[in-house]
Amino acid sequence: MQILQDISLKPFNTFGMDVHTDYYTEITNPTQLAAIAADASLPAKRFILGGGSNVLLTQSLHGIVLHNRIKGIEKVKEDDDYVWVTAGAGEVWHDFVMYAIANNWAGVENLALIPGTVGAAPIQNIGAYGVEVKNVIDHVTAWHWEMKREVPYYNSECAFGYRDSIFKHQLKDKVFITSVTFRLNKTPEFNTSYGAIEQELKKMDIEEVSIAAIADAVIAIRSSKLPNPREIGNAGSFFKNPTISLEQYDNLKASFHDIPSYPVSDTMVKVPAGWLIEQCGWKGFRAGDTGVHEKQALVLVNYGSATGGAVWDLSDNIVKTVHDKFHIELEREVQVW
Ligand code: FAD
Ligand code: EPU
Repeated sequence: MQILQDISLKPFNTFGMDVHTDYYTEITNPTQLAAIAADASLPAKRFILGGGSNVLLTQSLHGIVLHNRIKGIEKVKEDDDYVWVTAGAGEVWHDFVMYAIANNWAGVENLALIPGTVGAAPIQNIGAYGVEVKNVIDHVTAWHWEMKREVPYYNSECAFGYRDSIFKHQLKDKVFITSVTFRLNKTPEFNTSYGAIEQELKKMDIEEVSIAAIADAVIAIRSSKLPNPREIGNAGSFFKNPTISLEQYDNLKASFHDIPSYPVSDTMVKVPAGWLIEQCGWKGFRAGDTGVHEKQALVLVNYGSATGGAVWDLSDNIVKTVHDKFHIELEREVQVW
């Protein structure tokens, strides 16, 4: 295991922030984690990095970055209806989606083209186009730094919620996710009800829906809306969509007649943060190399040489203006280091 010192993380985060870390190593096998835990010469502060597509780096990291490269995909079990597949946490998420589709295993096609690694998918319970990854996770296996062994966390133990899980709370900084075991469907249940999928399938002249066609539609929609991090630095949605009470929503609707909402429960609704931010005039805003994407107000961007601090300050201003106008508190989705 090669340990490097004082290296830039610019190539390893999709915002493209040029921040240095004191120590850095690649993890290709879970056994290396035991060696790291036992090595007293290494810093105790550990930063686990996957694809770097949900982090905002605001300062030099004083500790060791463990870059997850644990690979391998294996079918571990099968019955008449389902197949159980274990994927190494360092597999690229989209490659895993494509692998499932190639085998005609359903359940992850709506999540095509989400950047990042398999191991990070359970952390914020990635979701898009009407599907969340919790629907197909059987269990998550993670190295526990205190127990000094790998522990399985079954779906019901993971406290999955909207962009949330136990890995962001009780298990934060306590585990390194090493693999995820999925239960995929041999008989697809197509989920085309969300947003523009059906429209896109029509546009593509698809007569018979398939999981591959759904993934193609999702890829087309995403590519038309979201900036490609290879071209413009970003980390996807910077904030979560806030959930508010129906009462607060009705009050806001009296002043803002076209405020959109999605039902969450009998008493709560979700309001798109992109709409709130756009209404505050931020869409397309640019100051130096820091900005708000022109097609999606929920995506903050780095046009080249923005710093994490400048993006943070912009996000702070956005939070304040949304609060002043709508009395809604935006919560950051991106992990800030
Ligand atoms: P990283 O950014 O490397 O890490 C994120 C957090 O997880 C960090 O706190 C890190 O320490 C921790 N972590 C990572 N790996 C491990 C591990 N193995 N063990 C323990 N902790 C770990 N997200 C969605 O949900 N839906 C979307 O539609 C979506 N679209 C996006 C579009 C774009 C253009 C971009 C740039 C991002 C988008 N995202 C979306 C956010 C992002 O892709 C996901 O959050 C993804 O799961 C992050 O994976 P990663 O490997 O890059 O994680
Ligand atoms: N909207 C605006 N202006 C904007 C952007 C959005 O008014 O600039 C409003 C519109 O009313 C639009 C609605 O917001 O209909 C929803 O927009 P969109 O379909 O683009 O989705 P989103 O709510 O902005 C969420 C996820 C995305 C996910 C998409 C598709 C969150 C925080 N974001 O975005 O996830 O890909 O839905 O399912 O839940 C991510 O988490 O990083 C991410 C990209």
